[in-house]
Amino acid sequence: MGYYTLLLIKPDSTAKNHVGAILQIVEDDDFIIERLKMFKMDLELAERFYEIHKGKDFYDKLIKFMTSGKIVAAVLSRKNAVLELRKIIGTTDYHKSKPETIRRIYGETITRNAVHASDSIENAKEEIIKIFPDFDFNNNN
Ligand code: CMP
Repeated sequence: MGYYTLLLIKPDSTAKNHVGAILQIVEDDDFIIERLKMFKMDLELAERFYEIHKGKDFYDKLIKFMTSGKIVAAVLSRKNAVLELRKIIGTTDYHKSKPETIRRIYGETITRNAVHASDSIENAKEEIIKIFPDFDFNNNN
């Protein structure tokens, strides 16, 4: 269960050349990179991707940040992918994250928190389709 998940490496990380280091942490934790792309999110995609947060006090700041520079999106696979990736990225608020987690090492603020990872199997599927519309969940390998 939960074989695929989505990782976004956010604009703060791409601006500081942390892409390689973050992908290395993920690969060292036995994830396989199934798809990978670097691009700038447009407003339409950012609003669609984060629609569950619409109306929250941090929403405008989040959208502005996520469209401010290039991101790297990756479909990752391994057993219990959603759960295992959440473990190694740490908590949203980076300074409350455990040492050795990606957000603790690379996060700057609660918004500029280095990475995003899907938080449930259902959301992983929805988020992967938003970024990689042609991803085939049954016959990818
Ligand atoms: P992410 O995992 O991408 O999901 C929503 C994002 O909103 C979160 O990471 C942060 O970048 C940003 N954010 C800013 N403030 C908050 C907050 N108070 N609670 C949750 N997310 C926040």
